[in-house]
Amino acid sequence: MSIKLSTGFADNISNKETRNAVIKTVQVLAEAAKKIAYLCAHGPLLEGLGANTGANNADGDDQKALDIQSDEIIIALLKNAPVAYYASEEEEGINTLDPSAPICVASDPLDGSSNIDTNVSIGTIFSILPTMPGAAENSFFRPGKEQLVGGFFVYGPQTSLIITTGNGVELYVLEPKSKQFVLAIGDLQLATAKAEYAINAANARHWQPPIQNFINDCLAGVDGPLAENYNMRWVGSLVADASRILSRGGLFLYPADARTGYEKGRLRQLYEANPVSFVIEQAGGSATDGKTRIMELPLSDLHQRVGFVFGSKKQVEIVSHY
Ligand code: F6P
Ligand code: MN
Repeated sequence: MSIKLSTGFADNISNKETRNAVIKTVQVLAEAAKKIAYLCAHGPLLEGLGANTGANNADGDDQKALDIQSDEIIIALLKNAPVAYYASEEEEGINTLDPSAPICVASDPLDGSSNIDTNVSIGTIFSILPTMPGAAENSFFRPGKEQLVGGFFVYGPQTSLIITTGNGVELYVLEPKSKQFVLAIGDLQLATAKAEYAINAANARHWQPPIQNFINDCLAGVDGPLAENYNMRWVGSLVADASRILSRGGLFLYPADARTGYEKGRLRQLYEANPVSFVIEQAGGSATDGKTRIMELPLSDLHQRVGFVFGSKKQVEIVSHY
């Protein structure tokens, strides 16, 4: 077994068949993550991990060799899990596995692809949803609040898993000696407000005025209306920025902007914003599109984008006032 789940893991899921399916699927995803982490650990020793395949994924991003390999590892292993359907950033449509199974998985198999070759943390994000009757889309076109599980693996100095089933957040670390994910923190709480923000500032000229005003006020520090000196951090891998914010507080923003294709934001609701929001809320933070709670937003396209603001409650609230 690749993960030693906590006693009581997923106990809040009352339906026994669903709970058992969730447990089995998280074990399988941990197995997949171990394989992906093993590949990542080679860096340039494995030639071409970060090479462009020449193709684009369903969202138009460059597809790297490791994006495709990670997707293949996950789908191959999910075939051994009680999963009805699998949707992925790397695939246009939905994969049918075992339609009679009670749960479905959506995933960004390798988040932070632009950092593959740079020895900076990258990860795998996933969302588990209950299977709905009828067409496969019915199971995925749901608001985030219907998720059974949200979580992400980080391949960094440590390989870790941050996960929620709706009953708090757990942090597991892949122990180098046993090669097993073991529980490190049983009730992860988002650190209290820190005046620190993460945003791709190169897009400043494309932001809407409220975002420009907010960032200008952050930059004004103690002399501005926020009356606080803000610090800035931006990794450029959502999993790494989320992981940092969980451990030391702060704010992440990837707002919609004026560029063509970014009118609804950059990040994808189904397999990026929804699972990360589930974790952030369960850790005591909040996650919105700038105004509305991400978990409430309807979904009508597998690869739908959304503006994404998350972090300490207080900070997210300040942004919504702008
Ligand atoms: O998956 C999308 C992603 O790589 C995220 O991990 C990250 O937050 C974002 O894109 C970075 O976007 P940009 O290309 O604007 O830096
Ligand atoms: Mn991603």
